[in-house]
Amino acid sequence: MFDYRVKNAEEIPTPALLVYKAAVAHNIRAIGDMMGGYARLRPHIKTHKMSQIARMEMDEGIDKFKCATPKEAAMLAAIGATDVLISYHIVGANIGRVVDLKRLYPDVDLKVIADDGDAIQALSDACTSAGVSLGVMVDVNTGMDRTGALPGAPSLALAQQIAQSSGLCFVGLHVYDGHVGDFDADMRQKTAFESIERAVETRCLIEQSGIEVEKLVASGSPGFEHTQRVDGVDEVSPGTWIFWDTGYGDKLESPFEWAALILSSVISTTRADLVTLDAGSKSVAPDTPVPHFRALGLSDEIAFVRRNEEHQLLQLPEGTPRPRVGDQFYLVPRHVCTTVNLWDEVCVIDEDGMFVETWAVDARGH
Ligand SMILES: Cc1ncc(COP(=O)(O)O)c(C=O)c1O
Repeated sequence: MFDYRVKNAEEIPTPALLVYKAAVAHNIRAIGDMMGGYARLRPHIKTHKMSQIARMEMDEGIDKFKCATPKEAAMLAAIGATDVLISYHIVGANIGRVVDLKRLYPDVDLKVIADDGDAIQALSDACTSAGVSLGVMVDVNTGMDRTGALPGAPSLALAQQIAQSSGLCFVGLHVYDGHVGDFDADMRQKTAFESIERAVETRCLIEQSGIEVEKLVASGSPGFEHTQRVDGVDEVSPGTWIFWDTGYGDKLESPFEWAALILSSVISTTRADLVTLDAGSKSVAPDTPVPHFRALGLSDEIAFVRRNEEHQLLQLPEGTPRPRVGDQFYLVPRHVCTTVNLWDEVCVIDEDGMFVETWAVDARGH
């Protein structure tokens, strides 16, 4: 296993989010190996939200990105990304932000997703009056039931509307298969194939109607391995692979290393079996049930007794040596994306295990 001990950890005020450059580099290489290169990879940057990590991806040859917010898109455009998909439904005042971005970076191939006729009309009106052309993909619901038009005729109707709308350019189909995540590998593959089949059939329907489908973009970390092999899928868009977490790591076989851990100190231990860490819900993903993290060096049998903003109270299994105030623990978050969003900056750990600099989480928030 990767050695997470930081040689100069005493220099880091805790709690702190650590990013291990060697583990990030490993994960970038690993996904390239899984996919035979980066030509069909459009990583979702919602996991890291950082220009420095996006630069590491670009340096290795990744040249297209997916993101969730106009702020993430602006960060990507500012560092020279030329192909950016905002995989989010842009409505209301956010339309103006996207139009402004297109005006500021006319050479960036900027795309959004949509699943609603009125929203498409509003995008068209704004783009027409601003004199810009915006790419739009139809978001297709293949089973997650969060967003997305139903496959088949409803998606075809939206594709036709986009293709006929001034200021818009129909690019293709977008699918997020967040319902694909079974523990069982065979079941996961089956759900992934069933999901993507609905999108591929919809692609054929749209093409038969005479509209060109430039691309079908699909999948997150549990499904991409399977969907990337399907005819009719052009790109896959996993995000969590870059840092990995126990939420996925505990159920999926994968070559990825945990690359973002929280360094936490013991701040109180007034009872032999209880220990209080300084990493509460302001430091570790606020959106997960217990266990919120795995503490390296502590048993998985620890009980998560209570969590407040700055406190995490743990009960240790019988026989566990009592930690001392000031002892440090490395916590692997259960959900790394929402963990990263809590931090203004990360402490960067170099290949020699030294804390060397900080990087801004410059696209966190909205
Ligand atoms: C639209 C969309 N695409 C891709 C992803 C990436 O998925 P994962 O975190 O499984 O890598 C997400 C994650 O929430 C998402 O919402």
